[in-house]
Amino acid sequence: MMPNSVHGKSILLGISGSISSYKAVDLASKLVQHGADLDVIMTSSAAQFIAPLTFESIIHKPVIQDVFTSGSEEGIYHISATEQADLVVIAPATANMIAKIANGLCDDPISLAVLSSKAPVIVCPAMDGHMYQNPATQENIQKLTDRGIVLVGPTTGHLASGSIGQGRLVEPSDILGHIRLLLGQTGDLAGRKIVVSAGGTQEAIDPVRFLGNRSSGKMGYALAEAAIDRGANTVLIAAPNNLTNPIGAKILEVVTAKEMHRAILNEMEDCDILIMPAAVADWRPKETSKNKIKKNDLENWSITLHKNEDILRSIKEADLVKVGFAAETENTLSQARQKLNEKNLNLIVANNVTETDIGFGSENNEVILIDREGNINELGLLSKYEIGQHILNAVAPMLKPT
Ligand code: CTP
Repeated sequence: MMPNSVHGKSILLGISGSISSYKAVDLASKLVQHGADLDVIMTSSAAQFIAPLTFESIIHKPVIQDVFTSGSEEGIYHISATEQADLVVIAPATANMIAKIANGLCDDPISLAVLSSKAPVIVCPAMDGHMYQNPATQENIQKLTDRGIVLVGPTTGHLASGSIGQGRLVEPSDILGHIRLLLGQTGDLAGRKIVVSAGGTQEAIDPVRFLGNRSSGKMGYALAEAAIDRGANTVLIAAPNNLTNPIGAKILEVVTAKEMHRAILNEMEDCDILIMPAAVADWRPKETSKNKIKKNDLENWSITLHKNEDILRSIKEADLVKVGFAAETENTLSQARQKLNEKNLNLIVANNVTETDIGFGSENNEVILIDREGNINELGLLSKYEIGQHILNAVAPMLKPT
């Protein structure tokens, strides 16, 4: 299976002295959990905010704190660690650190790493709002951007001074998203456009009630993350859900099946792959009441429903690889095969939704992939991210060469 884009990559995490240095612990932990080979570099002021031992407990090797530290048998660290780095991330980056990098100084181990490395660099600023707004800082940031360094943040919110302003370090989960996006850019789906639908559509009955379904959106979101990890230009058509949007996807929020249909049609230009885990409402109320329907007015009540158009079936772009899902409660394989043929799909992902601990709302699922040639791939119990990677593995060879 294709791992996430961070897996096996050498990352140098530079931490300069800011109150937000503690957030770098979470980032370091997340990077290690995603399989990064992580080295941590700290300035002496960062070491006053947080103990290097904290990071050493996560990476199981010494933190680089000195320009002259010997990093390995091969020599001083800025030759060994920086030469093999796939990425340098500075989080938090203080105004002072940004100024040093902008001007090519190298009197601390982080700015030295940036100067001596050929790897891409992500800088995540954190400072007081006035320091951030200062023209000197703005000019320095512009210099970094002009050199191709990726700036992530800062965001607006509560600052250490007690005021509200722009200067907060971006949350570690979002920094991780930017790292995945950057490292994924060389993946096998780079230059390909993927449209993924997610969640369950809702069809209004009146201003407070709707017809919905149990889809959580997790499968679609996991697929989008896997696609971003492989470098795809990813569009996520999202029906209402409680999930965090993946960094790097174009998000189009929709509510009804009609809105989802329209959004997908608008994105079909240059699209290579359409994947539809969304649970699209098959019917909508014939009429939607403008006012709330009052219970005292009705003892019994029936709603007339109209059929929604089948989105997958309606899309007939040449060379588009179409993937559908089949949520079944019985005869899973035969029902899925029928949908594959009727909707003219390249691949269908079949699952039995009567299993209570997998599928809807769960982190995992057990699905079967069926292609047009009749090949069947029964995947065991896997996370939805892993299933997403298997789907992309199956789809990649179906793409027409560029
Ligand atoms: N689908 C669609 N448009 C619809 C309904 C479903 O594009 N109006 C897509 C779903 O996103 C899914 C596939 O078709 O990828 C199969 O959906 P499913 O609900 O399993 O089947 P239906 O075709 O709706 O048939 P039924 O509900 O009768 O099983």
